[in-house]
Amino acid sequence: MALKLRESWRIGPVEMETRVVLAPMAGVSVQAFRRQGRRYGAGLVCSEMVSCAGIEHRNERTLDYLRVGADEHPLAIQIFGSEPPAMAEAARMVEAAGADIVDMNFGCPVRKVTKTGAGACLLEDAELACRITEAVSSAVSVPVTVKMRRGVEDGSRACLELGPRLVDAGAAALTLHPRSAKQMYTGYADHTLTAELVELVDVPVIASGDIVSHAKAQAVLASTGAAAVMVGRGAQGNPWAIREIVLGDGVEPTREEVAAELILFVHETVRELGERRASGFLKKFYGWYLGHGRFPKPFKNELVQLSSTEEVVTRLLAAAPGAAEIVERLEAELPDPEDEILLEGMPISIYGGG
Ligand SMILES: Cc1cc2nc3c(=O)[nH]c(=O)nc-3n(C[C@H](O)[C@H](O)[C@H](O)COP(=O)(O)O)c2cc1C
Repeated sequence: MALKLRESWRIGPVEMETRVVLAPMAGVSVQAFRRQGRRYGAGLVCSEMVSCAGIEHRNERTLDYLRVGADEHPLAIQIFGSEPPAMAEAARMVEAAGADIVDMNFGCPVRKVTKTGAGACLLEDAELACRITEAVSSAVSVPVTVKMRRGVEDGSRACLELGPRLVDAGAAALTLHPRSAKQMYTGYADHTLTAELVELVDVPVIASGDIVSHAKAQAVLASTGAAAVMVGRGAQGNPWAIREIVLGDGVEPTREEVAAELILFVHETVRELGERRASGFLKKFYGWYLGHGRFPKPFKNELVQLSSTEEVVTRLLAAAPGAAEIVERLEAELPDPEDEILLEGMPISIYGGG
């Protein structure tokens, strides 16, 4: 049992080395986050959700286009939408960009998404959900997976009825975040539903929600029979949590390591989003990284006030000079940016959730 988190497993032909999956999180799961997740032991990482509405209307409000690096694989790219042909076309584009798995979002509770018939809405429209799954799984040769919530209303068990139908329609794995869409992130994830879903389907089930420690991950795997756990908020600015969940080692990072990971994250995000957007985007990460008693609170407040990311990096290096050497080493290991694939025409949605 103790070793299970470090055992390999499969979704179709795609093999993952550990049973920890890094969650798709809009506004969080940028390339730097996914890469870092892989380095700290996530067996599979997921992109933020990309909108197939971009293909149809090209007017979706967007953050950016997705970049896929050689060091991210295995990588799932998540798409969302409500039109089977557009979703099939989106899946083909995502596959061409190198996705090892196409994941579909059937759980986003955000109104901007549900009002278009996408996201959590599909939990209540099994017919359409199945048509989308069929269209997408016959459009690509990589495995197609679905991420769901338990249902729309509190107490709903819609996922148990829908899950097996999605598998019949071609889903190669299911992720369940057993909160209702109404709940957003309140209350707790009821993994007794995950256990029920596991009983009903013969594909891997990934348990998402409130996995924050090795002990919790093991307990959820043992009590549900899920193939893997997914980690979301627990990994925000905290890749050491992924390592702890995989290995159960609980070794706290040094200040130098924390500063170095944050500096690398800043550099990479500026490269991905450009300085102007990255400087606002990154502010939430300062608290996430420097919290946990790692740096004094006034230091974080100081970083948030600075107007350029260059100043942020300078302050971090002044506070932890040993970080420079670690950053240099980590940057030397990055693959050549020339080899990255840019997924154009598929905007990342800013309306995340699931
Ligand atoms: C900021 C944020 C953005 C999210 N965006 C997405 C998304 O784009 N697609 C998705 O399927 N789930 C999304 N989720 C849900 C997570 O993937 C995950 O299922 C949920 O946070 C529960 O796991 P946790 O308790 O480990 O955070 C998001 C969650 C958060 C907190």
